[in-house]
Amino acid sequence: MNSQIDSWKIVEHEFKLCRNANQESLFTLANGFIGMRGDGEEPISNGFSKPGTFINGFFEKAAIIYGESAYGFAKNKQIMLNVCNAKQLTIMVDGEEFHPEHSRMESYYRELDMKSGIEIRKLVWITESGKKILIENRNLVSMTRKFVAARECSVTPLNFSGPIQIESYLEGSKYIEEKTDDPRVEEGLGDGDFRVTERTHMEHLGRKTAFMKQSAKNSGLSVACTVTESISQDCNEVREAEEDWLLARYLINVSENEPVKLQKYISYVTSQREFQDCYEKTSAGQACEAADAGFEQLLKEQALFMEEFWSHGDVAIKGDPSLTQSIRFNLFHLLQSTGRDSFTSTASKGLSGEGYGGHYFWESEAYIAPVFLFLDETIAKSMLEYRYTILDKAREQARLMGHETGALYSWRSIDGEEASAYFPAGSAQYHINGDIAFAVVRYLDATLDMDFLEKCGLEILLETARIWADMGHYSALKDGKFCIDCVTGPDEYTAIVDNNCYTNLMARENLWNAVKYARFLKAENGKRYEEIAEKIGLKVQELEEFQKAADLMYIPYDEKLQIHMQDDTFLYRKVLDLDKIPEQNFPLLLHYHPLFIYRHQVCKQPDLLLAQFFLFNRFTNEEKKRNFDYYEKLATHDSSLSVCIFSVMAAEIGEVDKAYDYFMQCIRTDLDDMQKNTKDGLHMANMAGAWMSIVHGFAGMNAAEGELSFKPKLPKQWEGYEFSVRYRGKEIKVEVDRMGVSYEMKSEGRLTITHWGEAVDVDFGNKRVFKWGEEG
Ligand code: BGC
Repeated sequence: MNSQIDSWKIVEHEFKLCRNANQESLFTLANGFIGMRGDGEEPISNGFSKPGTFINGFFEKAAIIYGESAYGFAKNKQIMLNVCNAKQLTIMVDGEEFHPEHSRMESYYRELDMKSGIEIRKLVWITESGKKILIENRNLVSMTRKFVAARECSVTPLNFSGPIQIESYLEGSKYIEEKTDDPRVEEGLGDGDFRVTERTHMEHLGRKTAFMKQSAKNSGLSVACTVTESISQDCNEVREAEEDWLLARYLINVSENEPVKLQKYISYVTSQREFQDCYEKTSAGQACEAADAGFEQLLKEQALFMEEFWSHGDVAIKGDPSLTQSIRFNLFHLLQSTGRDSFTSTASKGLSGEGYGGHYFWESEAYIAPVFLFLDETIAKSMLEYRYTILDKAREQARLMGHETGALYSWRSIDGEEASAYFPAGSAQYHINGDIAFAVVRYLDATLDMDFLEKCGLEILLETARIWADMGHYSALKDGKFCIDCVTGPDEYTAIVDNNCYTNLMARENLWNAVKYARFLKAENGKRYEEIAEKIGLKVQELEEFQKAADLMYIPYDEKLQIHMQDDTFLYRKVLDLDKIPEQNFPLLLHYHPLFIYRHQVCKQPDLLLAQFFLFNRFTNEEKKRNFDYYEKLATHDSSLSVCIFSVMAAEIGEVDKAYDYFMQCIRTDLDDMQKNTKDGLHMANMAGAWMSIVHGFAGMNAAEGELSFKPKLPKQWEGYEFSVRYRGKEIKVEVDRMGVSYEMKSEGRLTITHWGEAVDVDFGNKRVFKWGEEG
């Protein structure tokens, strides 16, 4: 069966109502700015579809209503907006309307072609009177034209000639999410908060266009959408407008076996930043320019862009097309969902659904940016630049939380303002500062991009480090060690604790690196260093304070069990017997009060183990193993961020079979709807985690301080696997199979790597091959 799988495609052979909402997420098309869920041309019955078109970073705010509020609570929720829908088309023959839910179909086929970045649908509709019509759709969201999406519908009468009608809509009313108790699902907006403020049919650059503007009341943001169409045959055209929709109706006389093609060029531009004064015009111009270029040209551009991406990013599992397809699927969606404009990042569900309100969380830097770092560092850089653009908001958040200096990044947000209404598992996750700082350091290490250090990096490092210095203290009860209290670590099933080990470890790196890079810049470019120091009012003694706090950081460790403690009190708590929890009560967060959960030793996701992964060289192998064995038993993996890290760490401690099992639970999370909420959007961090499981887990890749190292292993189920990574401007291809491991430079020059601890020079044109058994 596997051999029939085309590993470049996700294919659907049948339209199934019950799985439609999930499929819409899987078939999402996006370009980091526009995201269009795979809700097709026809509206599907309520409850089976979650139509969506989103713009990265485009949102509305609404006041959070608390029963009991307190000082400093987040004031506003933020919601990524579901903007006007330009997908809808109605095809009619003899007054009968095609609809996949109700119409008779002789055949149905849909594919997501990840190699060329398009979606294709082909079906044959049989009308009640027996007329057969071939309907073919090709859809794309342009990777090369940020503001453009294009859709083509081709209609071919197979056994008749005569009139058909196509109606093409631009619809402003939006889907409103139902209210639920699931915190992962975002509530909709109040009526009227986001509405159509202008809609008109107009001429632009000699083309007929449908133009719609929608505005959000509280955020003050607007989006303009322009659609211009071209049709391959003369026809009678009628245009209509209602309060919140526009319609173009084409009456066409078709001939048997002759296709008629309708091409739709769509452009969305928002009133943000440089387009503030010209977004309407820009949208109209972009749609018309795309139409002038034509559909085939857009396809060509798309294919070229994707070819370039895959030439660096592709990962293949030899002999297993299904797993190869799955990892490509994950990478494809990561690419599609990630903003590349320095003002946006990757939301936890990307641009594929409204889950978590379209917010960016810590995983953008902890899981996703590190993948791009090795595939296309410009994307990782753009994600970090986004954090720089919201540094002032992080400064405001720090003041609100009682810190006199420094910057504290919000736990979940779009524009930087804290939007988390539940602070124990939200704002208390101070580790986000450490995660962002660590991503900056990894970026600097992998690229040596000193320009970034000067423009953004050092300021982020210093401002985030200040929070630790401000909030921590030297505790006499802990032998004068530096302690950090009242925080929540990554594991959301344990909240507001003292000395969360992960947080302390990441804070220590943050502090050390702030000092290291400050001193580095001072030596390299004293003038720029002084400018930054002056801008943020850095006092001379602060760097010394950072150094001391880091050197004396308290790292909780239990001598008896010989393991790191997740926090000061974690090991004192009662172990939750997971075997006694009924299967249907997972995830725990939907079935137990938070206090019940917090009171137990139980983990939603890795906490300390994540630190072991990131800070691989700060733990001994024995420590890694003992910690893994202890914390594994407590994990529910209720977060989709979990199993991938267990896979990486299992591989690291040599338990390859176990690593493989975890990997299998991670790789098809969305394709098999394993979290049972793919309909709300794809799980971006997990998708990145799948790549990490292969590259950091099985191939044992680590990178730090100029050293790129590998400790490859081969799961017994695989014939082999291959991938490429970029490091310090060099690209290296790694192939692992049953014979051994090879390293090949894909770019000019030499890179020295380590293979199982042994330094190896890899020169361009000289593949280095190691047989199994040769590793140290
Ligand atoms: C996880 C968090 C994550 C959030 C958004 C939660 O379930 O516990 O770590 O940031 O989802 O993806």
